Amino acid sequence: MIKIKELEGEKIKLIEKQYPFVLSFFENNKLDVTQYKDYTLLQYFNHFTEEELVEWAIDIPKMKIDLEAYINQMLQFLGLDKEKVTSITIIAGKDKYGNKESFHKLTVNKSEIISIVGPTGAGKSRLLADIEWAANKDTPTERIILINGEPANKDMRFSTSNKLVAQLSQNMNFVMDLTVNEFLELHAKSRMVDNEEEIIKKILDAANELAGEKFKLETPITALSGGQSRALMIADTAILSTSPIVLIDEIENAGIDRKKALKLLVNEEKIVLMATHDPSLALMANKRIVIRNGGIYKIIETDEEEKCLLKSLEKVDMLINEMRSSLREGEKLKKNNELFTSGIL
Ligand SMILES: Nc1ncnc2c1ncn2[C@@H]1O[C@H](COP(=O)(O)OP(=O)(O)O)[C@@H](O)[C@H]1O
Ligand SMILES: [Mg+2]
Repeated sequence: MIKIKELEGEKIKLIEKQYPFVLSFFENNKLDVTQYKDYTLLQYFNHFTEEELVEWAIDIPKMKIDLEAYINQMLQFLGLDKEKVTSITIIAGKDKYGNKESFHKLTVNKSEIISIVGPTGAGKSRLLADIEWAANKDTPTERIILINGEPANKDMRFSTSNKLVAQLSQNMNFVMDLTVNEFLELHAKSRMVDNEEEIIKKILDAANELAGEKFKLETPITALSGGQSRALMIADTAILSTSPIVLIDEIENAGIDRKKALKLLVNEEKIVLMATHDPSLALMANKRIVIRNGGIYKIIETDEEEKCLLKSLEKVDMLINEMRSSLREGEKLKKNNELFTSGIL
C-alpha cells in the first residue's frame, strides 16, 4: 500500500516516472501539472491561492485521499503489488451446520485448474471469497488458506496478492472517463512492454473474440456493456497481468464466450479456480471440488473417461453456439451440423 504522506516530498516528475498513470488523475480532476513537474507533490498542493481553491472548488484533503486510493487501486489492478505465488492450500473448516468438512487439506499448484461445483447457495462463491481474502479462521467457514504453504502475512492479504478477475469489472469506476485505448495504454506503459501498440491490439482482438458485440479502441470504458467490459478485463488480465491466482465466479452468465475466456486465462504460471455449473468447463479442470451445505464434500479428479466425454460435450457446445449465432442473425435453424448428419442426434 502506497501512503500519500510518503509521496508528498517527491517531485511530481519522479512520481510520474514511477506511476505514469498519475497524470490522468490530475487531468481527470482538471488540474494542469505540466508547469509544476519540478514541484514536490506537497508544494504543488500548497501553491494554490485561497481564491483559486474556492473558484475551482479544489478540496486538497479530499484530493489526497482520492489520489492515494487511485494509485493503490491502479497498482493492484496492474498486478504490480505481487509476490510470487506457487501454491495455495485450503485447510478444512466447517459447513453451514458446523460439521467439519470431509477433507483435511487441498493444495493447488500453479498451472492447475480446479473447478468448483454444487447447487446454487451451496457455498461456491464463499470458497472463492475465502481464497481471495486468504482466510485465517476469520470467515463463516473457518477455513485457513495458506499461500506457498504459509499463512498469508497481513501485507499479502491486504495488498491483494491475488486478483479476482470476476470482481474487476465491478470495480471499474477508478478508471474514470478513459477510452479503451487510453486505459490499455496506461496499463501497457506501467508494465513497460516495448511493443505497446501490438499488445493493445492483441488485447482488443482477444476481448472482441470473447464479447458478442464488437467495440473499438475509441470506445469510452463507461460505454461498454457488462459482457464487453468483462471481456476486456479478461483479455487484459490474460495478456498483461502477472496476477498468480485467477478466481472465476460463474462466467457463464457474463455474455461472453466462456470457453475461449478460460483458455485465454489459463497458463503455466497461474492457479485457476472456477465456480461453474457448465459441464464442459467443469471437466476442463484437473480436479473439481464438490460443495454441499457450505462445506467441501468431495474432491474428484477428472479421469480419462470424463476427458473423453469432454470431447463430445464440446461438439454439443459448438452446435449450440452455431444455433445461437444463426438465431441472432435472424436465420432459420437447420439440421446441417455433423451431429445431425452423422445421425447422432
Ligand atoms: N461453511 C459455511 N458456513 C456458514 N455460511 C456459509 C458457509 N458456506 C457458505 N455460506 C453462506 O451461504 C450463502 C450462500 O453461499 P454462496 O457461496 O453464495 O453460494 P453459491 O455461490 O454456491 O451459490 C452465503 O451467504 C455464504 O456466506
Ligand atoms: Mg455464487
